[in-house]
Amino acid sequence: MGTIGLAVIGAGYWGPNLVRNAQATPGLRLEYLCDLDADRARRVLGDYSTVRVSDSLDEVLADPAVQAVAIATPAKTHLSVAMAALAAGKHVLVEKPLAATYAEGRQLVDAADARGLTLMLDHTYCYTPAVAHLRDLVRGGGIGAVQYLDSVRINLGLVQPDVDVLWDLAPHDLSIFLSILPDDVAPLAVAAHGSDPIGAGHACVAHLTIQLTGGAMAHVHVNWLSPTKIRTMVIGGSARTVVWDDLNPTQRLSVYDRGVDRSVPGDLGAEKRAQTIVSYRTGDMVAPALPEKEALRAVMAEFHASITEGRAPLTDGRSGLQVLSILEAASASLAQGGAFLPVLGADFREGVKA
Ligand SMILES: NC(=O)c1ccc[n+]([C@@H]2O[C@H](COP(=O)([O-])OP(=O)(O)OC[C@H]3O[C@@H](n4cnc5c(N)ncnc54)[C@H](O)[C@@H]3O)[C@@H](O)[C@H]2O)c1
Repeated sequence: MGTIGLAVIGAGYWGPNLVRNAQATPGLRLEYLCDLDADRARRVLGDYSTVRVSDSLDEVLADPAVQAVAIATPAKTHLSVAMAALAAGKHVLVEKPLAATYAEGRQLVDAADARGLTLMLDHTYCYTPAVAHLRDLVRGGGIGAVQYLDSVRINLGLVQPDVDVLWDLAPHDLSIFLSILPDDVAPLAVAAHGSDPIGAGHACVAHLTIQLTGGAMAHVHVNWLSPTKIRTMVIGGSARTVVWDDLNPTQRLSVYDRGVDRSVPGDLGAEKRAQTIVSYRTGDMVAPALPEKEALRAVMAEFHASITEGRAPLTDGRSGLQVLSILEAASASLAQGGAFLPVLGADFREGVKA
């Protein structure tokens, strides 16, 4: 298969980004933009586009010129839209989160497997140069043993009507964690706390704590109500610590050869040993040069490549299921006042790892 005919479904906030990047991707031929609101789709394409507009998913899926769809509709519609596309024999790229529940996500993964079709998640951040560098560094052992991860994703965000802030924003942090963590570090249990100070009907501010195998811990803070925008992640290791500031294009990543060592001198008595046990390392900080590339361009290229090469994409359906299993445990924890609950269901040994 050379050129792949694509339909983008959903022309709201995010769909236009898929349209723009699909049109710039060699090997993809944008055939349709489909939205229940055809006028909205027309406005996105402008007056001079030859891409067809449709308000009927059925019409789009019946067209043999379409071999693949990219879905940017609300999360609660992902099951029905993606399932219809798979049933029609189309490859699917779906926005995060994969579906509204783990059980729905499982149905999609099974349907894609049964039909031998590609099911890919737009976990956009996994395709940034920063995450590619972090993946090599952290999975390659460059920071030593992972000790903690701390992610902050806050700004004045769109308060979503159908999902809380965890389901809206935390898929980014969770997909990044799963993409960069070594195989022997997986989520075990999760505790979530949230608040709804504006009466939106669900949490607008949330904190997620994840226990990882090996005693490491991860934390995520997501918030729609913060007047300042912060996008930082700190990944601490026994040898180095990386700080990622995504809003600093000249120095997104800083790798610190600084940290805390614990040594136990054998020839000291117990009293003196307690005083000398901790020492601080102060080494260099290195800021790796990263290319500036739009992640969605890489998402589209990977979608095309995985279809033509008949292989699983970097962020396949299983990576979407892994995120859903953590989100479901987080929602249950939120409902139970923040208790730690086990993360069940997903196989964390396969999926997003490259
Ligand atoms: N990857 C990212 O960084 C990122 C960023 C923002 C949103 N998203 C995801 O994109 C998806 C869409 O979010 P949004 O903010 O663009 O939503 P939105 O509400 O702005 O737009 C959704 C559009 O889908 C259309 N639609 C709904 N059901 C449809 C159907 N059955 N057939 C055709 N069109 C239909 C609606 O008319 C609407 O125009 C969500 O899953 C969201 O999580 C991802």
